[in-house]
Amino acid sequence: MKKIISLVLAFAMAISLSACSNNDGGDTQTEKLTLATSADFPPYEYVADDGSYAGIDVEIAGKIAEKIGMELEVVNMDFNSIVASVSTGKYDMGMAGLTVTEDRLESVDFSNSYANGVQAIIVKEGSEIESVDDLYAEGASYTVGAQISTTGAIYFATDIEDGLTTCTLQEFNTGADAVNALSSGKIDCVIIDNEPAKSFVAANEGLKILETEYTNEDYAICVAKGNTELLDKINAALQELIDDGTVQSIIDKYISADAQ
Ligand code: ARG
Repeated sequence: MKKIISLVLAFAMAISLSACSNNDGGDTQTEKLTLATSADFPPYEYVADDGSYAGIDVEIAGKIAEKIGMELEVVNMDFNSIVASVSTGKYDMGMAGLTVTEDRLESVDFSNSYANGVQAIIVKEGSEIESVDDLYAEGASYTVGAQISTTGAIYFATDIEDGLTTCTLQEFNTGADAVNALSSGKIDCVIIDNEPAKSFVAANEGLKILETEYTNEDYAICVAKGNTELLDKINAALQELIDDGTVQSIIDKYISADAQ
């Protein structure tokens, strides 16, 4: 019995020692900055051919981590888990082409904005939907697709509720799923942010983006409500990266000027 107890004690000590050395950082350990994202949204975040995470957000987050002396760890998840998992403190920050909205501000705090987003509408070439107005025309009965929990889905759902449109909304796990449903004729259009829209249209034949924009919004980084310590660090780092042109050069790397 004694043996067992001393074994258990030794084990417990070993664990607490190793936990200590982790926290103290030793000589090489850098504290992790966990980034909750949904890598299904090129050019902001996606899984590259070699399996690594790439995109505007991933690179900006990497630079922010570097500036505040932490090591970035990307955690990939469904888009609609990001705000929730950051608000509970499970992950440090969320970055996912994430639009600042009043609703989200109830559960998380946002950094200063680092980019603009525009909701666009993708249709099949030759579609009878020619502008956003067609979705709001009397008796319109189109099926509109959007990624679940995105602003595109939320705004359209609100418009349906408010009786502004008689179209229906179908939500998909990812923007790519919605675009596939559009390509195969299951739905009539997709509402999604403009840059991902361009990526998806470039990758799929027979699709085009309508010229009229649906909404204009700001992208920012979210942290748990009240985590001002981290938020201040993020904002300071972000400002430096904006001022020295790093943010713009990352955006330019992924979004070619002539395609804008
Ligand atoms: N900007 C939109 C929003 O915040 C869509 C973001 C989707 N991001 C993603 N990684 N899938 O709701």
